[in-house]
Amino acid sequence: MSLILAIESSCDEMSVAILKDKRELLCNVVASQIDTHRLFGGVVPEIASRMHVECVSTVLKTALQQAQIDMKDIDAIAVTKGPGLVGSLHVGMQAAKTLALTYHKPLIGVHHIAGHIYANELVEDIEYPCLCLVVSGGHSELVYMKKEFSFEVIGQTLDDAIGEAYDKVGRVLHLPYPGGPVIDKMAKEGTHSYPLPLPLNDDSYHFSFSGLKSAVINLCHNAQQRKETIIPEDLACSFQTVALEVLVSKTIKAANDYQVKQIIVAGGVSANSGLRKKLTEESPIKVLFPPMKYCTDNAAMIASAARVMYENQCFSTLDLSVKPTYDLEEESIGE
Ligand code: KG4
Ligand code: ZN
Repeated sequence: MSLILAIESSCDEMSVAILKDKRELLCNVVASQIDTHRLFGGVVPEIASRMHVECVSTVLKTALQQAQIDMKDIDAIAVTKGPGLVGSLHVGMQAAKTLALTYHKPLIGVHHIAGHIYANELVEDIEYPCLCLVVSGGHSELVYMKKEFSFEVIGQTLDDAIGEAYDKVGRVLHLPYPGGPVIDKMAKEGTHSYPLPLPLNDDSYHFSFSGLKSAVINLCHNAQQRKETIIPEDLACSFQTVALEVLVSKTIKAANDYQVKQIIVAGGVSANSGLRKKLTEESPIKVLFPPMKYCTDNAAMIASAARVMYENQCFSTLDLSVKPTYDLEEESIGE
């Protein structure tokens, strides 16, 4: 039995969730700043942290009201400690520590990617051993989990993350930020007609998306110089087809090699409809995707990972500080 209040503020969303036991979510309030950052074509870290300061108390109050919970009934305060933008992380961390100190509650520092992975457990039990495909704005990783909360990163991007590549391609196509969801929609309306290189199409579990991104940018610039028109839907479709080809084939290869029971998809790009369709159709084993509302950053996923940490008594002291970069493997319990 647990009642966990979680705070997520690693990038441009301030979110507070309250989770009862494994999956009774009493609230998941998300204050997004996307409309502001869209004006600049991407997240401006300084603006993100300032806006977090302005809204943290309101988001917290709204969450407690929605859940009809009093702080005294909360069992633990969880917070994303990293990775993420240092200023943004600090706001959530200070709020969490203040609550823990004031109300004498244990503090749990959660790895952002562990949160994305455990978003899946808000709807269904994860079966181990499993393989996680982590695809977000900052990460593209294959993570082997032999048991609960045990993380072995077996492959990762050598350069850009997949979400970052989506957003940069979106920018060159003059699409609103973030480009990922828009390209996903456009890809469905186009056909794969531009030749693009399959990125790092080798036997490793690693990824590389910067070459693919540059190929799209060069194609657009060359067309501009020759005064040719690009069909944006077709280019979106070609980019997505090539990117998904390598993501899906490497995931299935790793799942077979490691003989896992399930494939878990995590991170903002898990919302991608093409990825959902292709991986589900081609995987010989069961694939779990988080529900759409828990794909991009939210505190419900942090609460879900914190629930496991709570059960394993993985508490932090009040000198906990943010970690803008750090390995998921450090988070493994009992290794
Ligand atoms: O996990 P997330 O909210 O933030 C990070 O932790 O990075 O992921 C955000 C990323 C952005 O790059 C966004 O473009 C991408 O997820 N994204 C998508 C889709 N929805 C969000 N990418 C492709 N297709 C989508 N439907
Ligand atoms: Zn994220």
